[in-house]
Amino acid sequence: MPSRRSPGLAQLRPGASLPDMKASVFVDNNAPLVVEELTLDDPGPSEVHVKWAASGVCHSDVSVWNGKLPLPPPSILGHEGAGVVVAAGETVAGFKTGDHVVGNFKPLCGDCFYCNSGQSYICEQSMMLGMGRMPWNRGDGSKLMGAIGGLGTFAEESVVHEGALVKINNDTALEEAALIGCGVTTGIGSALFAADVQPGSTCVVIGCGGVGQAVVQGCRIAGAENIVALDLNASKRNAAQEHGATHAIDPSKGDADALIKSLTNNRGADYVFEVVGTSALQRQAYDLTRPGGSVVWVGVAGMMDETSLPAAMITLDNKRVIGTIYGSANPRTDFAKFIDYAKQGKLDLKGMVSQRIGIHDINEAFTAMLEGDVIRSVVIYD
Ligand SMILES: NC(=O)c1ccc[n+]([C@@H]2O[C@H](COP(=O)([O-])OP(=O)(O)OC[C@H]3O[C@@H](n4cnc5c(N)ncnc54)[C@H](O)[C@@H]3O)[C@@H](O)[C@H]2O)c1
Ligand SMILES: [Zn+2]
Ligand SMILES: [Zn+2]
Repeated sequence: MPSRRSPGLAQLRPGASLPDMKASVFVDNNAPLVVEELTLDDPGPSEVHVKWAASGVCHSDVSVWNGKLPLPPPSILGHEGAGVVVAAGETVAGFKTGDHVVGNFKPLCGDCFYCNSGQSYICEQSMMLGMGRMPWNRGDGSKLMGAIGGLGTFAEESVVHEGALVKINNDTALEEAALIGCGVTTGIGSALFAADVQPGSTCVVIGCGGVGQAVVQGCRIAGAENIVALDLNASKRNAAQEHGATHAIDPSKGDADALIKSLTNNRGADYVFEVVGTSALQRQAYDLTRPGGSVVWVGVAGMMDETSLPAAMITLDNKRVIGTIYGSANPRTDFAKFIDYAKQGKLDLKGMVSQRIGIHDINEAFTAMLEGDVIRSVVIYD
């Protein structure tokens, strides 16, 4: 049971004025998240107070929770959210109470080398803007940060830097808009921007979870002729075919290499996307790619992992190995583009939501994700 906030907790902490907010707190690696009542600091200059309406559960949250991504507890996970602005702090010009927003898990400063060269997804200030602040207060007096981009979408409400939000039209369902905040943008962007998939090409997607399904859709939008989905899970392979995959194969049973060769006059695929995050599969992606083709690493491997590639052949075969964060997309312009794709019927967001859950159900959602059964669980807040 969550403990009740003692009356007057907010008054004990200067600047903390928003009581009775719940969050599912990451207390320890591999231990269940615990729902706690917290208070939230008021938004300071350049900060915005958001009430989340919905949050997707992404594998990157699981990777922080199980220690694959070393961001130590305690903190608040969740980085794929959409909601409504409660209040904007001083100096915030772009947001006002009632605006609908999607969280940007790579908060941007708008003024560094990368922001000025159209690469806000690697903004130099991003880490500091997201994690350099701890706006949530626990009953024991300690403070919490949002682990990924400072968003903390596993809390009902957050105070975030204005560069961590993108305004959207009020006519978009927030449950679907939430998915734009990570999985959809990462997947579609990987196909359209990082790989620049060309019409008529042959694409392979290794791992068809939330992000991989969006890669499949991005390849379809780009006009790929063949899209081969590889996943161990049958329901993911079926969903990939609904999202545009022309072929699907269980890599533990079928011969993916033979299938791809049969589709390409023995050349190999033009683009292969690794969307799981292991060295072995990153190497497999390289091997399935034709000479002159592109290998795109979307999945995030362990922080200390290294992947071995054939040093001479990568040159002699003129292959490109591309890493991509956030699908190399710029949230301020590309979120609206992807929402338009959904409105035009080019992008299926509804089919990405496997189950709607409450704030107490995130542990079960982690298990379901690890067992491969859900594309996206989406936490719905009141
Ligand atoms: N680059 C980025 O900006 C970015 C953004 C979001 C997520 N990610 C990363 O992308 C990866 C996928 O995230 P997700 O949320 O889609 O995860 P997910 O758990 O929903 O999907 C992973 C899928 O891989 C499948 N899989 C597992 N082992 C496999 C194998 N050996 N062969 C084929 N398929 C296999 C699973 O069945 C599952 O469907 C994670 O590593 C995550 O951290 C990267
Ligand atoms: Zn994510
Ligand atoms: Zn910047």
